[in-house]
Amino acid sequence: MDVQIAPSILSADFTRLGEELRAAERGGAGLIHIDVMDGHFVPNISIGPMIVKAARRVTQLPLDCHLMISDPDRYIEEFAHAGASMISVHVEAVTHLNRTLTAIRGLGCKPGVVLNPATPLVMVEEALGFVDYVLIMSVNPGFGGQSFIDGSLDKVGRLRDMIARSGFNVHIEVDGGLGLENVAAVVRRGAEWIVAGTAVFGTGDPEKATRELRLRALEPLTV
Ligand code: DX5
Ligand code: ZN
Repeated sequence: MDVQIAPSILSADFTRLGEELRAAERGGAGLIHIDVMDGHFVPNISIGPMIVKAARRVTQLPLDCHLMISDPDRYIEEFAHAGASMISVHVEAVTHLNRTLTAIRGLGCKPGVVLNPATPLVMVEEALGFVDYVLIMSVNPGFGGQSFIDGSLDKVGRLRDMIARSGFNVHIEVDGGLGLENVAAVVRRGAEWIVAGTAVFGTGDPEKATRELRLRALEPLTV
């Protein structure tokens, strides 16, 4: 298991983005999660490749770009060139998943596929051979600060079993409503990469929050 905390900059103070990223890094963040929203696929607009480029200048950590946009094929090259290390696309937004994920890998990034809370796991079953990770949304995408949807725990466990049966080496990332109270539970079910926005940058002390979250996430592996 490769347990990592992925602070989501959606909840960061953008006037001090560099400091926020460095604080998360000092706290032991393993990835930096960047939420890209287009106001079409999700009812909110957030950030684009310029911010990825800016983040790339202040941290060496892998930049995990979560594209919550319609027709992501149009933009993957731009995000790759801006410095993305990982690019995930929603299965609900892509028609030719194999083509899109292969293109992401061809641009030198790790490809990931994302499932909304009500999208069944079977939608990624055939894609396990050509993705590096599956991202399970544990809230409806679009906003930070929402509550974790309970059924997501069971979904993570079922995905872990599906991956084991497939024989492929695919990581599981979980995103939405995660914090100190539920992070150990998702890791116990098989989640490895833990996205957290409010629980890191909403606290006023992202370094300490990342460190505590990481320790809590690692607990199931030490007992
Ligand atoms: C939601 C985004 C998340 C968001 C998580 O659409 O994909 O990455 O930043 O925020 P919290 O951790 O506050 O639920
Ligand atoms: Zn996200």
